[in-house]
Amino acid sequence: MEEVLSLDFLLDDFLIKTNNFNNPIIVTGAGGCIGSWIMSILYKSGIECIGLDLSDNKHRAKLILGEEVSNLKWEKCDITNYKDLKQIFVKNKPSAIIHLAGLQVPFCASDPALGARVNVEGTINILQLAKEMGIKRTVYASSVAALGMPPQGPWKETLYGAYKQVNEHTAYVFCADWDVPSIGIRPNIVFGLARDQGYSSKNTVAIQAAVLEKKYDIPFTGNYSWLYAGEAASAFITSVSKDMKEAKVFNLNGDCKKIEDGISILRKLDSNINITCSGKPVPFPPDLDDNPLREYIGNYASISFEKGVEHTYQAFKTLNEQGKCPELPK
Ligand SMILES: NC(=O)c1ccc[n+]([C@@H]2O[C@H](COP(=O)([O-])OP(=O)(O)OC[C@H]3O[C@@H](n4cnc5c(N)ncnc54)[C@H](O)[C@@H]3O)[C@@H](O)[C@H]2O)c1
Repeated sequence: MEEVLSLDFLLDDFLIKTNNFNNPIIVTGAGGCIGSWIMSILYKSGIECIGLDLSDNKHRAKLILGEEVSNLKWEKCDITNYKDLKQIFVKNKPSAIIHLAGLQVPFCASDPALGARVNVEGTINILQLAKEMGIKRTVYASSVAALGMPPQGPWKETLYGAYKQVNEHTAYVFCADWDVPSIGIRPNIVFGLARDQGYSSKNTVAIQAAVLEKKYDIPFTGNYSWLYAGEAASAFITSVSKDMKEAKVFNLNGDCKKIEDGISILRKLDSNINITCSGKPVPFPPDLDDNPLREYIGNYASISFEKGVEHTYQAFKTLNEQGKCPELPK
C-alpha cells in the first residue's frame, strides 16, 4: 500500500498540553484559515471544540488534518441569525468562544452592507450570547486594519477596518455596562497552509506557486508582518484558557521581515523557483509589538519565520505529491 505522508509536523509545535476547559469551545468562522488551524490544534490536543460556519465545507482543515477532518464537530449557521445561533449555544453550553467569522477587506468593499451585517452585527450577536449565558471567555478577531481608523492617519482606511474598530468599542461597552469580558486580537497578516483568500494572502500563494513550479509575482515588496497561522491560532486558544474580567484589545504581529526575505528562503529550498515581487509595501504597520498580548494571556507557541516558510513549502509539496494540492488561488 502506498505510504500516506502526514502533515502532523505542522501542528507539533502548537499542541496544547493542558486542558483548561470543562465544556467545548465554539469556534465561529471555523472553515476559514485561522479557524481551520484552531480546530486542527484543538482536535489534535484532545480539547473538545465545535466549529461553526456559514458553510460545512471543511476543505481548509482537510489540508491540515487529511481524512481525520471528518471527526470534527460542526454546526452550520449564519452568524447574523441570532435565533439559530442561540439554539446552537444553548445545546452545546460552551465554556469559551473564539469568534472569527467575518468578511475580509475585498468582500466588505464589494458589499458594504453585508460586510457590516457579518462583521458588526455578527460580533454583537456573539457578545450578546456571552452576556445571556454568562460566558467569561470570549476572544474575537479584530484586525490590524482597525489601526487605519480614525481616517487620515498613517495607515490605510478601509470599511473592514472601520467595522473591526466598531467591534472593539462594542466589546468595551458590553464589559463596562454588563460585565461581559473579552479579548480582541488584531492579527497582522497571516501566512501558512490554508491562507488562500484576501489581498494579503499573496505571499502564501507564492509559496504554493513555488511548489507547483509556476511563475508568480507578489504584488508588494519590503517589510511585512509574517504572522504564521499556527502562531495566530495559538494566541487565540491561549486567550480563552482562563476566565477574563476586562475588555482588552491587543496587536498580534509575528515576525517583521521583508517579502524579499521570504523569496530568499524559497530559493534556498529550490534554486529554480520563478517567484518575484514588485510594487510598494502593504499599507499596514509591519512591526507591531505583541509583547503586551504575551504578558496578558501568557506565552503562546510560535516558530521562526524561516521555519514557518519551510513548513508551508513542505506542506504544499507533500500535498502535491499526493495529488491533493488545491488549485493556485486567482
Ligand atoms: N488572515 C489574516 O491575515 C487576518 C488578519 C487580521 C484579521 N483577521 C480576521 O480573523 C478572522 C479569521 O480570518 P481568516 O483569515 O481565517 O478568514 P477567512 O476569510 O479565511 O474565514 C472566515 C470564515 O468566516 C465564515 N463566515 C463568513 N460569513 C459568515 C457568516 N455570515 N456566518 C458564519 N460564518 C461566516 C466564512 O465562511 C469563512 O470560513 C476574520 O475575522 C478576519 O477578519 C484575519
